[in-house]
Amino acid sequence: MTKKIITITGAAGNIAYSLIFRILSGGIFPKNTKIQLKLLDIPESSKILQGVKYEVEDCAFESLDSIITTDNMEIAFGDSDYILLVGAKPRSKGMQRSDLLLDNASIFKNQGQAINQHCKDSTRIIVVGNPANTNALIVSQHTPKIPTHNITSLMRLDQNRAKSIFASKLNVSVPSIRKLVVWGNHSATQFPDISNVQVDDLTNLHDKYDDNWLRKEFIPRVQNRGAEIIDYRGKSSAASAASAVYDHLNSIVNGSDDWESMGVASINPYNISSEIFYSYPLSVTTHSNKIIEGLDISRETLDYLKVTEEELIHERDIIKDLL
Ligand code: NAD
Ligand code: LMR
Repeated sequence: MTKKIITITGAAGNIAYSLIFRILSGGIFPKNTKIQLKLLDIPESSKILQGVKYEVEDCAFESLDSIITTDNMEIAFGDSDYILLVGAKPRSKGMQRSDLLLDNASIFKNQGQAINQHCKDSTRIIVVGNPANTNALIVSQHTPKIPTHNITSLMRLDQNRAKSIFASKLNVSVPSIRKLVVWGNHSATQFPDISNVQVDDLTNLHDKYDDNWLRKEFIPRVQNRGAEIIDYRGKSSAASAASAVYDHLNSIVNGSDDWESMGVASINPYNISSEIFYSYPLSVTTHSNKIIEGLDISRETLDYLKVTEEELIHERDIIKDLL
């Protein structure tokens, strides 16, 4: 029997209410792995958190070792193998995710400092709270003992959205699509990139769509899908976000045979600033995330990559005093 400790912040919130149950349902860790869950939220949410704990217990999950609820970061982060930083304010209708920057940035500074103090350096951190890439940058600046490649931000929701929309256009199944990635920021400037896509048993891919659909429908739809969900639900995406965190964690734990999009510390490939977290196409194994370098980038793609880079540089400039 092995044991893994997983910390989830914002555990009384909407995403966590789906995420906790997905993770404990299995599929990521081998069957003989038991999970100790550490659920962190603010003191005002302690009653809700207690209710969530009761519901988790009521599921009688085979995978559950034990569950701790707390508002104390030392208890929450100590010895964790995986830390899922979900807890932060979500945006509401009419807001951009970057409007959350000043409200949420200090959460990630404080949590980064606590993680650095109480965690082992092998801890893997996934930043979900928005704006996720810049929050990941903040965390990385305050966790000098944790290797930067252990910190990633969630872009899998965007990749899943892009794959699903593209699959429906081509009338193929989602798993038949490979190498579809999303570059840049988790925002309306992100660039969903189909230029390297391969689809099982389909060679004449370009016959199924035209460039007008690509530029005027596909790219803006993926870029603005989060706002579209808020418009319909009145609240930001939660179940699909939790599902994407599950997929992201699964790739980190088990590796992936497809290209994956994650926000990572930029190390200047494709001439993107090395002072931001930026989503790249990655090759992910159980031990590392490697940016896929050397891809042919068209002039048009380069323009998209620069726009989203500039936005991330601007976000970094806004919070530079917290770095
Ligand atoms: P929510 O409001 O339902 O829940 C947030 C929870 O975080 C609340 O329980 C709140 O009490 C808690 N919280 C606030 N400050 C905290 C702190 N300092 N420590 C611990 N917990 C704290 O929001 P949600 O729908 O679960 O969304 C959470 C975040 O995830 C938002 O910022 C949202 O925008 C973001 N999000 C990101 C993606 C992505 O793809 N990166 C997708 C969806 C949502
Ligand atoms: C999303 O993409 O659904 C989330 O980031 C929530 C939001 O604010 O759009």
